[in-house]
Amino acid sequence: MSVELKTNYLGLELKHPLIVGASPLVDQLPKIRELEDAGAAAIVMHSLFEEQITSNEEGIDAHIHSHEETYAEATSYFPGDVDFALGPDTYLERIAEIKEIVSVPVIGSLNGRTPTGWTSFAKDIESAGADALELNLYFQPTDSEISSEELEAHAASTVESVCQKVSIPVAVKLSPYFSSLPHFVRRLEKAGAKAVVLFNRFYQPDIDIVNLETVPALRLSDSSELLLRLRWLAILRDRFSVDLSCSGGVHTSDDAIKAIMAGADTVQMVSSLLQKGPSHLATVLEKMTLWLGEFDYKSIADARGSMSHRNTPNPEAVERANYLKILQSWSS
Ligand SMILES: Cc1cc2nc3c(=O)[nH]c(=O)nc-3n(C[C@H](O)[C@H](O)[C@H](O)COP(=O)(O)O)c2cc1C
Repeated sequence: MSVELKTNYLGLELKHPLIVGASPLVDQLPKIRELEDAGAAAIVMHSLFEEQITSNEEGIDAHIHSHEETYAEATSYFPGDVDFALGPDTYLERIAEIKEIVSVPVIGSLNGRTPTGWTSFAKDIESAGADALELNLYFQPTDSEISSEELEAHAASTVESVCQKVSIPVAVKLSPYFSSLPHFVRRLEKAGAKAVVLFNRFYQPDIDIVNLETVPALRLSDSSELLLRLRWLAILRDRFSVDLSCSGGVHTSDDAIKAIMAGADTVQMVSSLLQKGPSHLATVLEKMTLWLGEFDYKSIADARGSMSHRNTPNPEAVERANYLKILQSWSS
């Protein structure tokens, strides 16, 4: 039995929900062809970081420095001499080039720190031909004087400024560390976001105890990271009309199916494609489609959200009540 895989995401009609998440996978044009050949339904560019823009535009620099303490961690994540794969001009040219060679939607990605620092670049990404824009809200607060309310207000106002400036749909990629994620998502929805991406990953630095150095570590994910996403997808699915995209821990067809059942409109893949190559996307897609057919799903829409908080037969498994049960269920 054939399964209808078509999916709407950010107002775009996708042939299925599997998309390539933001990463260096899209830095080489031949790779992009391979990803499209493997069946990718959309491609998210890696992020253009505000640091790249500001190093090229002195005018904006001053404004950013006035916020530097607030976002000290974000700045230290990218030391001054970091090499970016694509500078801002090349980034825009690359969007146009990718649009020439693929027929699937291309989603630009921005990592900003200040509203004025990145709205103009959001506009440029739109003009370069991106079909949508993902805002990568990656920051880690270190200043004890700044409250979570201030940080969230700042982030929401950034999103609002961008949404007002561009007419392409905007998704917001979040970290899992917001103290009231549903409340913040509501705020983003009001600010004009059409989707949220759950979640980005923080790259935790390690300590070298012999050389006494803090060592930046980039570890790829595994399927265990999906669980955090499943829980929040299930909770947010029933409460909001924004689209939901799952990013993190999708390595197998089972992972993709779980993400969709929890409530994801799209499923982003990065680590598994970096490890196994673009053809892995075709494998996941094929197995996922077979599974859905075998279990009599007529469409992706039938499966989407079927295990959300509201729809799961045991909602307590998503809620706090389960905490106690889980702890008590342990036996040595
Ligand atoms: C090498 C590498 C580069 C990445 N670059 C970006 C980026 O530029 N922007 C972004 O939003 N996420 C970036 N990510 C995060 C991924 O898009 C994704 O959210 C994360 O890896 C979790 O998905 P996964 O488990 O499928 O890898 C990057 C991840 C990796 C491994």
